[in-house]
Amino acid sequence: MRYYISDLHFYHLSLNEHMDCRGFADCEEMHRYMIGRWNRKVRPNDEVVILGDLSVGGGKATNAITEQLNGRLFLIQGNHDRFLGDKHFDAGRFEWIRPYAEIYDNKRKVILSHYPIFCYNGQYRKKKDGSDRTYMLYGHVHNTYDEILVHRFQNITRGSLRPVKGQEGLQHIPCHMINCFCMFSDYTPLLLDEWIENDRVRREELNRGGLPGHDSAPEQPGREEGFPSQIRAHSPEIPGKC
Ligand SMILES: [Fe+2]
Repeated sequence: MRYYISDLHFYHLSLNEHMDCRGFADCEEMHRYMIGRWNRKVRPNDEVVILGDLSVGGGKATNAITEQLNGRLFLIQGNHDRFLGDKHFDAGRFEWIRPYAEIYDNKRKVILSHYPIFCYNGQYRKKKDGSDRTYMLYGHVHNTYDEILVHRFQNITRGSLRPVKGQEGLQHIPCHMINCFCMFSDYTPLLLDEWIENDRVRREELNRGGLPGHDSAPEQPGREEGFPSQIRAHSPEIPGKC
């Protein structure tokens, strides 16, 4: 099995009160929960692709986490993964560590980047049965207003038509960008097909103006469609931003 997950942010205490508002009492409680969720799903021979921001701890501290996680680890570098420059970090725990990768997963092409890529490689490729072939998995934006902007971009792109050589009429533009943010899966790594379904449900909720498991916000002046209460501005003024 191959699983994916992003932005776990081990040791990032401030995310319990700011931005993500995870709600754990301290890092110890957060780590215990996240490691438990991970190991409940992942077996030792499974593969897990981490889409960046694994840990804000140093090399030794991050090693102490990866030693407890099941599976063969692959890391796409995130902007917070500063442990990568620490001489005490054990890179041998990872099969590879890269800033970007393209892989295949059950006949789908998968683009892997910490940052969302709006025009990704292979976006227009089709399988023989005519279904879309490529998925872009990303992290970085967590559940912020930037994620709403990505969502709006996807809606605009999917709703757009373009001429395609050799085909009659206009065709819809494929756009399959999936935010693998760990809180969207309750900190559990998911298969590609599980993320596709998770993403479909979440985006349907976004289109209705809310998110599963959250109360809807009181009406605010200038509140726009698809801007739920827990979405926070992804701005430098917010402590603990990613
Ligand atoms: Fe992050």
